[in-house]
Amino acid sequence: MSDLATPTSAVGYRCRQAVIAMVFERRWSVRLILVSALAICIALLSAACGGQGEEDYQASQQHEEHDPAPSSVIEGAHSAAGLAGKRLFAANCSQCHGENASGTNQGPPLVHQIYEPGHHGNASFVIAVARGVRAHHWDFGNMPAVAGLEIDEIHQVICYVRELQLANEIIDEIPSSTPC
Ligand code: HEC
Repeated sequence: MSDLATPTSAVGYRCRQAVIAMVFERRWSVRLILVSALAICIALLSAACGGQGEEDYQASQQHEEHDPAPSSVIEGAHSAAGLAGKRLFAANCSQCHGENASGTNQGPPLVHQIYEPGHHGNASFVIAVARGVRAHHWDFGNMPAVAGLEIDEIHQVICYVRELQLANEIIDEIPSSTPC
């Protein structure tokens, strides 16, 4: 019995070993697939995160460093609409945008290249007052909407700012869409 049993069990043993080896190898290859899938996931994720980080970084680079001191602004000449706008600006805007829109530590100067009509047309002023502004150019934070101004009054404020921009050579002429 033992003579017969030995080879049989030897074959059985080898068989078992082979099966175990196969199972082990399959497990191993399954594990290998899982590990590589995980590695690919991590690589993709970090690439996505890297891309996001890069975008955030570039967005943050668009913010202007603001001068702690307001820029010096020449007052210049004003139309009747511009003079009315000056009073409205002083009451509603200058606490952040400064006297003569020269800027404060609460808000940017509007007598600035960024706010010339090609970059920020008159409509962007109307929208800024009506809806507020999400901080995107500077690091002052958001501008809240300013309530209580009629559209004609916003136009007068725009006249005032454009006339200041003209006097300070930000622009060569008042845009034709400005009613002043
Ligand atoms: C409480 C402070 C505050 C007040 C009051 C305020 N602003 Fe602003 N305003 C800001 C800040 C801060 C920004 C800059 C946001 C940014 O980072 O781009 C801004 C941006 C703007 C812009 C640029 C809009 C754009 O599309 O980028 C305009 C135009 C503007 N303000 C007009 C006005 C006018 C007109 C008034 C008054 C009727 C006014 N603001 C009152 C804080 C203020």
